Amino acid sequence: MAPATASAITLTINGEHHTLTVDHRTSLLDALRERLDLTGTKKGCDQGQCGACTVLVDGRRIVSCLQLAVAAEGRAVTTIEGVADGEGLHPVQQAFLDLDGFQCGYCTPGQICSALAVLDEHAAGWPSAATDDIRPEAGPPELTPEEIGERMSGNLCRCGAYVSIVQAVARAAENTTGSAAGGTTKEPAA
Ligand code: FES
Ligand code: FES
Repeated sequence: MAPATASAITLTINGEHHTLTVDHRTSLLDALRERLDLTGTKKGCDQGQCGACTVLVDGRRIVSCLQLAVAAEGRAVTTIEGVADGEGLHPVQQAFLDLDGFQCGYCTPGQICSALAVLDEHAAGWPSAATDDIRPEAGPPELTPEEIGERMSGNLCRCGAYVSIVQAVARAAENTTGSAAGGTTKEPAA
């Protein structure tokens, strides 16, 4: 008997369960966009180099073009569609809007998802390659433009809106309390 090449899986996305049958080779990005109509997550390079497809899985950022959909089963996926609280924008979204952190907007969903994770990683004391003092007792470094630029370096912007993106992340850091990413990951419906 030939091995199965497709499986029925249930994905939990923005707190909602979705059951679908996918070819085992289907990326999470393609499952989101092509099967579930969640087209906010963008496909840029489709090979892990641009960050346009960034989503959060269990609160951590990943590039969804390199994640198999079957590997996301049982985990909480947050896409850009799940970041706002109803009509209320998340502080990260508001900061991008207020400070023109985009031009064409194609990279923006990935930038925002990545920024959510950056704020949580920074709050947890994770150093970056731009951190001078990486001793745990030194605590989280100041979120300077260099720190933000390094931490957001996996997200490319063809429009070159980097100056405004860095400013938006800095503004969001001032206006975000608690878990930036975790706070927007809704609990699955029972
Ligand atoms: S589309 Fe996934 S990193 Fe570029
Ligand atoms: S705003 Fe156009 S690619 Fe970033």
